[in-house]
Amino acid sequence: MKTTAIIGGSGLSQIESLTIIEQKRIQTPYGKPSSTCTIGELAGQKVIFLARHGAPHTIAPHKINYRANLWALKEAGAEQIIAIAAVGGITPEMTPTRIIIPEQIIDYSYGREHTYFAGTEPVKHIDFSYPYDESLRKQLINNAAQLKLNSHAGGIYGCTQGPRLETAAEITRMERDGCDLVGMTGMPEAALARELDIPYVCCAVIANWAAGKTAGTIAMPEIIDNLEQGMHNTKKLLHQFFSDTNHQV
Ligand code: HPA
Repeated sequence: MKTTAIIGGSGLSQIESLTIIEQKRIQTPYGKPSSTCTIGELAGQKVIFLARHGAPHTIAPHKINYRANLWALKEAGAEQIIAIAAVGGITPEMTPTRIIIPEQIIDYSYGREHTYFAGTEPVKHIDFSYPYDESLRKQLINNAAQLKLNSHAGGIYGCTQGPRLETAAEITRMERDGCDLVGMTGMPEAALARELDIPYVCCAVIANWAAGKTAGTIAMPEIIDNLEQGMHNTKKLLHQFFSDTNHQV
């Protein structure tokens, strides 16, 4: 199997079933990544783990050094990436605690260092028609079905700037645009992975209904509870992914 990197998001700062072999502190031409790269073994497969928001969780979505993170993973030997993310649900299928394997992205973020082509070499305009790797998506979707997890295949991920949550009107606009789920870290991460030619998939956990989708405000304790349940299932899904010999080449 290809060496897989897991980028852990809110609610997934470590994977208990990962047997740690080595911690690599990698410097990159773009600065420091959010955390060390933890090299380990999960279900007999080599895995590299990186905590997107740092360990402990201190780096806000707009302050994450996405370029350093992806560069460090490539340098550590990552050949494919599973990106775990906490998100809000917009459309009816996107119920709290559910695992979503989205298929598209709309980017509303701004001001982030979003490309490796920053004027020092000929620009490459990557194809990004389908931002996620279809083969990895299929594998995760199959694995979720094997485990009968509460999951959904598909959906458009709208990436906002954060760190604040959205207004109800912003969510209404995003829904009009076609967004199904909303998060703050999906971009430029996915595009940078494509620039580095690393197949990348998003595995999102719905933490809450997005702004205006339920009466009242969004409560933090509820988000934490939902994430705990969703991430518990996500860890099962990862274990299945690495154990499933059907797709190991
Ligand atoms: N909006 C944006 N990002 C999020 C949300 C949300 O409602 N929930 C978890 N991450």
